[in-house]
Amino acid sequence: MSYFHSSDIERVLITEEELKEATQKLGAQITKDYEGKNLMIIGVLKGSVTFLVDLIRHIELPLKMDFMAVSSYGAGVKTTGVVRILKDLDKPIEGMDILIVEDILDSGLTLSYLTAMLRERQPASIRIATLLDKPERRTADIKPDYTCFTIPDEFVIGYGLDYDEQYRNLPFVGILSPKVYNKEGE
Ligand code: IMP
Ligand code: MG
Repeated sequence: MSYFHSSDIERVLITEEELKEATQKLGAQITKDYEGKNLMIIGVLKGSVTFLVDLIRHIELPLKMDFMAVSSYGAGVKTTGVVRILKDLDKPIEGMDILIVEDILDSGLTLSYLTAMLRERQPASIRIATLLDKPERRTADIKPDYTCFTIPDEFVIGYGLDYDEQYRNLPFVGILSPKVYNKEGE
């Protein structure tokens, strides 16, 4: 039994141990930075879920949490630039200190759209915490406030990140073998 077909993964990029250390460290940093604030964690479904549940257990503060679902990708690996809101927040966020938790900042289009939209609801502050940052691919003018790992321009999967909804359950972050997505055009 295995999490995946071994030929689908080119190599492991970030190990389970490294992920554990990074979420601990970031949780401690957020605990410091948000003391006395009105912290509201917003998870962007579905890719951020694994990271988020690990991260919040290291934030030793009272906090609230909500989720949004947006879609910017189809089954493919390239961004379309179109962001659709599939699920909005349950409640107003006025006056709250928003920390958006994302799996990966790639072109940045998703988060620049999302932050602009949330800013109109008058929160006290908005920051972005991302597990992964792929700065080489950035087209939108946006920078994460907290990043666990800066990675090269490779399509990665695991620890919440998917390719066509698969591989989210891998306990590590791996580089997807291009042969998996090159099959698409056949
Ligand atoms: P952006 O709008 O281009 O920044 O795209 C952000 C979203 O694209 C992320 O939340 C992911 O869902 C998806 N994405 C971007 N790069 C990757 C990748 O390497 N693996 C899996 N999903 C990715
Ligand atoms: Mg995704």
